[in-house]
Amino acid sequence: MNNPYIPFPVRIKDALVETEDQNIKTFSLSFVNKEDETNFRYTPGQFAELTVFGKGEAPFGMASSPTQPGGLEFSVSKVGVVTSALHNMEVGEIIGVRGPLGNGYPLETLEDKNIVLIGGGFGFSTLRSLTNFVIDESNRSRFRDITVIYGARRPGFLLYKGDLERWHERSDIRLHLTVDQAENGWKGLVGFVPAITKEIAPSRENAFGLVCGPPAMIKYTLPVLRELGFPDDRILLSLEMKMKCGIGMCGRCNVGSKYVCRDGPVFSYAELKNLTSDHAF
Ligand SMILES: Cc1cc2nc3c(=O)[nH]c(=O)nc-3n(C[C@H](O)[C@H](O)[C@H](O)COP(=O)(O)OP(=O)(O)OC[C@H]3O[C@@H](n4cnc5c(N)ncnc54)[C@H](O)[C@@H]3O)c2cc1C
Ligand code: FES
Repeated sequence: MNNPYIPFPVRIKDALVETEDQNIKTFSLSFVNKEDETNFRYTPGQFAELTVFGKGEAPFGMASSPTQPGGLEFSVSKVGVVTSALHNMEVGEIIGVRGPLGNGYPLETLEDKNIVLIGGGFGFSTLRSLTNFVIDESNRSRFRDITVIYGARRPGFLLYKGDLERWHERSDIRLHLTVDQAENGWKGLVGFVPAITKEIAPSRENAFGLVCGPPAMIKYTLPVLRELGFPDDRILLSLEMKMKCGIGMCGRCNVGSKYVCRDGPVFSYAELKNLTSDHAF
């Protein structure tokens, strides 16, 4: 069995600047050893620790879908030591990846259901992974209607513009893009994600609402989904906590009796309500 603390070596294949302030880059990584690629089986919503040797490691959600062969993608916002070191690295350099970690989205539970994905910021990365997974032709028939509500401060802060264009052209996804501040030429919606969710009012019928993004977005979107009648066990949230080991050993990331790294990061609102009285996720 592999030692869970030892990262697999991966090479940076590409580092795409996603946002106009250059603060978020999507790194495409390829495994140095073919067998590591075969063994690294993940599900949308899981995360991994990325190691910059000599600097440290930090957790990031997988932005790629397991249906996309040939490597992994992570979208990294530059905020501190590890993320700045990553942003300074060149294509061709080697880093480490330790994982996959966490539970991911409950794919079997979502089968035959309408899925409403609501996201903002880099939190949208795992929802992008899930969207690409469910719309892949090998999976599409397993899931019902797909509604995506995705917001950013301005158009220049929307991630994955290539995917958004492809999704827009598909008749089997309802894609609603919104920005806080419109600019010339913007054809999408204007407004914060919770308000736009209320306006669109996705049906709760046979549906799950999945929310991932900044804490304020989650905090204000939750009551909207509840008002729309989504039951608490059909609202799924992905949490971000400070982490160290990522495998339930160090006790750094607990919410009540659960560890976000091992038992999450995806929890239903029904579960979270029972775990903590601090609902400011
Ligand atoms: C499950 C999970 C998935 C994540 N997915 C992504 C992702 O897809 N893309 C992405 O850019 N980031 C993601 N993060 C957050 C990312 O792990 C942190 O931004 C990163 O650890 C910062 O490392 P650093 O060494 O650059 O910052 P540090 O030098 O350690 O700290 C810089 C600043 O960031 C704050 N910070 C550190 N860790 C976190 C954290 N976990 N959450 C919030 N603030 C933090 C510190 O308090 C400090 O203010 C995720 C976190 C978790 C737990
Ligand atoms: S990060 Fe160590 S227990 Fe979760």
